[in-house]
Amino acid sequence: MDLGIKGKKVIVTAASKGLGFASAKILLMNGAKVIISSSNEENLKLAYDNLKNLGELSYFKADLSKKEDIDALFNFAFEKFNSIDILVYVTGSPKAGKFMELKDEDWNYASNLLLLSAVRCAKRAAELMKNGGRIIFSASAAIKEPIMDLALSNVIRISIAGLVKTLSKELASKGILVNAVLPGYIFTDRVKQIVKNRANKEKITEEEALKSITKDIPLGRIGDPEEFANVVLFLASNLSSYVNGACIPVDGGMLKSVF
Ligand SMILES: NC(=O)c1ccc[n+]([C@@H]2O[C@H](COP(=O)([O-])OP(=O)(O)OC[C@H]3O[C@@H](n4cnc5c(N)ncnc54)[C@H](OP(=O)(O)O)[C@@H]3O)[C@@H](O)[C@H]2O)c1
Repeated sequence: MDLGIKGKKVIVTAASKGLGFASAKILLMNGAKVIISSSNEENLKLAYDNLKNLGELSYFKADLSKKEDIDALFNFAFEKFNSIDILVYVTGSPKAGKFMELKDEDWNYASNLLLLSAVRCAKRAAELMKNGGRIIFSASAAIKEPIMDLALSNVIRISIAGLVKTLSKELASKGILVNAVLPGYIFTDRVKQIVKNRANKEKITEEEALKSITKDIPLGRIGDPEEFANVVLFLASNLSSYVNGACIPVDGGMLKSVF
């Protein structure tokens, strides 16, 4: 089946590891031309070396908390491709913590990393989408059910849902479809660290910590990055031509809310 990905010009942010890496990989495997970016050159080069045999790939270092880096990334994409077709936006993780523990500077930094970066990337991407396109945000299942001790994520990421709805209405006439994927627990370095932290905090083994997370997931396990990336591929492909303004959980059924 032709998914319509072959030859598409794609930017994937925060792609040196985890969800972004898996998304870049599956898009490359389906024939897209991909620019990966992240804030650490060493990680990025490693990811580039791991993926370069799969297709047309380049990389560009950009810290998403900095406007000038985002501008430089999109300028690089413009010089390379002249236009783009697909943006897969993933970002770094905010600091964990309860509301009363967080300082003003934490809110400022997290706003740049989680919200303004999404706004800036979407704006530059839409400007470069000359023949329509897809904007796919990765956010978090926490936008539907807040997670304890993650006040920054719980409060700021929910704005991605507003951004998706707003852009899905404003950009539809340009042929740009805008959606989000909401990961629950997907087995990346981040989640491995969460498991480790929980084990240390509760003085239990990592295996027990993992069980305490998976007991709330109807499928009884944490997801693989490829299972997240499959949904990104769907949203990037011809198969999702009538999906616009949706926030799709990839959580093994973890969310309890109906909507
Ligand atoms: N995995 C899950 O189950 C899950 C669930 C809900 C939400 N999330 C969120 O999804 C995002 C990705 O998580 P992940 O699980 O893929 O984590 P991960 O495996 O730790 O990867 C994080 C990625 O973000 C990049 N990054 C970190 N800071 C950055 C910055 N300032 N600018 C640009 N890139 C940056 C890292 O690359 P460099 O270090 O090379 O910059 C890396 O490629 C995070 O925001 C996370 O909180 C994940």
